[in-house]
Amino acid sequence: PQYDMDDFTKVIVTENEIRRKLDEIAAKVRDDYEGKELLLVGVLKGAVMVMADLARRLPPRVQMDWMAVSSYGSGTKSSGVVRILKDLDADLTGRHVLIVEDIIDSGITLHWLLGNLRSRGAASVEVAALLRKPDAVQVDIPVQYLGFDIPNEFVVGYGLDYAEHYRTLPFVAILKPEVYGDN
Ligand code: PRP
Ligand code: MN
Ligand code: MG
Repeated sequence: PQYDMDDFTKVIVTENEIRRKLDEIAAKVRDDYEGKELLLVGVLKGAVMVMADLARRLPPRVQMDWMAVSSYGSGTKSSGVVRILKDLDADLTGRHVLIVEDIIDSGITLHWLLGNLRSRGAASVEVAALLRKPDAVQVDIPVQYLGFDIPNEFVVGYGLDYAEHYRTLPFVAILKPEVYGDN
């Protein structure tokens, strides 16, 4: 493998667990949106992996669009400030939208995004998130499709980064504090 397991204290969600969970979620999404045109909205950059793997489990008429927002700097703490770095290309009027996220941490990003996308005239806006940290949530988010509740630890992998690193890991793991220092 291209990674060193010594960088991590613990694997929280394995590659196999992710695969099985995405199978389950995709089956529900296929059912729920049967006969409807679905637009997946991925939140760059963390959602890239879950978007790619979820979208490929759905019928090929599904569409993907992307937004880039930022609520974190390069550190490990949420700033609480959400900025649009890249807006959607698609017009949401009358569309069935499913926001795809890697993780709900404080909930600030998705709370803001739900409000923003709902104001654009979509027929429906729902959320799919692979991970959630119940002990970190500051704003409750209605999540239609949830993968795993995880402990309030600093995790990386499967899209989640530390300073843009570790997104490519096939699993989600707790990064050793000595790897990221004490910020
Ligand atoms: C991370 C993560 C979520 C968000 C969750 O993104 O991918 O989008 O934070 O945090 P919250 O619930 O406290 O708002 P980040 O802002 O680090 O950008 P990235 O996806 O490019 O890593
Ligand atoms: Mn993100
Ligand atoms: Mg990040």
